[in-house]
Amino acid sequence: MDIGIIRPYEVEFHPGDVADLENAITERNHRPVRIYVDMLEVRLGRGVEIYQGIGRNEPVKVEVSGAILRHLGIFRDFEQFSYRVFAARALELAGALVMNPVMSWLVASDKMASAMLLVKAGLPVPPTIISENMFSAYRAVSSLGRVVVKPLRGSMGYGVFKLEDPDIAMHVFSMLTNLNKPFYVQRYVEKNEGDYRVVVVGGRAIGAEFRRANGWKSNVAQGARPEPAKLNGELEELAVKAVEALGLEYGGVDIAETKEGYYIFEVNPTMSWQGFKAATGINPAKYIVDHLIEKLKM
Ligand SMILES: Nc1ncnc2c1ncn2[C@@H]1O[C@H](COP(=O)(O)OP(=O)(O)O)[C@@H](O)[C@H]1O
Ligand SMILES: [Mg+2]
Repeated sequence: MDIGIIRPYEVEFHPGDVADLENAITERNHRPVRIYVDMLEVRLGRGVEIYQGIGRNEPVKVEVSGAILRHLGIFRDFEQFSYRVFAARALELAGALVMNPVMSWLVASDKMASAMLLVKAGLPVPPTIISENMFSAYRAVSSLGRVVVKPLRGSMGYGVFKLEDPDIAMHVFSMLTNLNKPFYVQRYVEKNEGDYRVVVVGGRAIGAEFRRANGWKSNVAQGARPEPAKLNGELEELAVKAVEALGLEYGGVDIAETKEGYYIFEVNPTMSWQGFKAATGINPAKYIVDHLIEKLKM
């Protein structure tokens, strides 16, 4: 079978993860196909057909059984973002099984959209207020005390900051208002030297790492060190339910252990796994590719 890996042509993100996926596909005697979301041509007429042409090259038809969605790029324009989401969706409409499903990826990659579903599924998320109104954000800091403010579509800890003085918060929020940024304000929870990252594939937790932080952020990109961690029933259940609540086939679930119990910070629908692989010896790419092939056979 031909199995695509969807990512942008303009910038290569996380090449190690892409290489792991290509190797896993080849090891299973299938063929990896590079699908560049910014080089596609979506042809409508006889149904939905996808062609790929890099620059002036003659476009060739993309006919893959399945595809793994890795990255759509970084956006400054809403229409471009929308186009790329639906170009990936077009691959599904053309008949490919895309993992993660594009619409689930869309929800999961937005912290507000995903936290709403986690809470609805009864999962523990720290108290959070999301608004465009700077007075709401000010009240949020007054009522929650120390808070963490996050970009709705960020990752790797970039742009995540702490605030505790409501008046300083007011200045920050009024500046963000001028940039048309909504606010995601979450109660700061005191955790135990880092977070767990549980990797779930096909409804099963395949392993866990503990990311020992060297500050309060546990992102590897922010200097956290990944260590192997033991799964327990509760961590496993939370992670599996979180991935399921978002309609994902796989995901990396960030969970903090606190005095009040576990809290879920987020579910990463296209997590990078080089740190996890080094710490645990488990290669998520093999599980993801096997799960995709399994689903294609059904
Ligand atoms: N409510 C919170 N309380 C304490 N620390 C937090 C909170 N939310 C996030 N963090 C820390 O900040 C890091 C980045 O936040 P996260 O929500 O995972 O965003 P990102 O998508 O940037 O990784 C987390 O790994 C966690 O260690
Ligand atoms: Mg995170």
